[in-house]
Amino acid sequence: MGKAGKLDGKVAIITGAASGVGRAGAVLFAEEGAKVVAVDVTADALNEVVAGIRATGGEAVASIADVSKLSDVQRMVDDTIKAWGRIDILWNNAAIIRSLYNAAEEISEEDWNAVISVNLTGTFFGVKCVVPHMKRQQKGCIINTASIAGMVAHRVGRAAYVASKGGIIALTRQLALELGNDNIRVNAISPGSVNTGMGKRVPRPEKVTFEYQRNDVAVDALRVAEPIEIARTALFLAGDDVGPLTGIILPHDGGKSSR
Ligand SMILES: NC(=O)c1ccc[n+]([C@@H]2O[C@H](COP(=O)([O-])OP(=O)(O)OC[C@H]3O[C@@H](n4cnc5c(N)ncnc54)[C@H](O)[C@@H]3O)[C@@H](O)[C@H]2O)c1
Repeated sequence: MGKAGKLDGKVAIITGAASGVGRAGAVLFAEEGAKVVAVDVTADALNEVVAGIRATGGEAVASIADVSKLSDVQRMVDDTIKAWGRIDILWNNAAIIRSLYNAAEEISEEDWNAVISVNLTGTFFGVKCVVPHMKRQQKGCIINTASIAGMVAHRVGRAAYVASKGGIIALTRQLALELGNDNIRVNAISPGSVNTGMGKRVPRPEKVTFEYQRNDVAVDALRVAEPIEIARTALFLAGDDVGPLTGIILPHDGGKSSR
């Protein structure tokens, strides 16, 4: 037997687990002893993540689901209960970004609806389907990946993404109070820039100059974070060590939102 893990015996659902932050989270949570339900729309990459976890002695299953479809999310939760009988942790992390450089009035109805559906409604659907189980258990932990984009304004572009992440922040606060009596904790992480496929789509200079910071407040000040660094923050929020910690929006943005 290896060392005791921080999540030994816990069942964790992580969405967007085929790449980037979610992938790092699935691997880390499994290393820490969790039984991981890795969720994504991208089947091949997701199966690779799960195979990798199993190859190193971890426990994981893949659940192919589009988080913007309630029936998919319900199936993801039903599969989890069938496999392991409980759900300790839900990490709502899947998201898309579209219309990155479009002024608000140029964003198409399709792009607006897609971004809100995956990012915000997907988070809500996850909550809707796991909470009955967490209430039955009288224990649970929900983590939502927000963004600095939901905390401070950008110059031009990504209004739908910003609105979706702002919605996640408000939802996190609402749920923390609403679910507190059932011993269900709800917190959010708000990354700045992360070194992932999505992160690379948002331009960033080699060196963050004063001029750059002044003109675009919604980027991180220190350096781009690695996915594992966001995953470790989720691990901190997921573990029992933090006791009743709930309702916080934890910026992980190199200090940029602190101005
Ligand atoms: N990368 C950054 O700079 C950055 C900054 C702030 C916040 N975030 C947030 O971090 C989280 C993880 O993003 P990432 O950077 O790892 O991006 P990523 O694109 O690498 O990963 C996102 C994953 O979500 C999956 N996904 C997309 N739509 C889905 C759907 N409908 N159902 C299920 N899965 C779906 C994708 O297939 C992908 O595997 C997101 O919530 C993102 O908004 C990222």
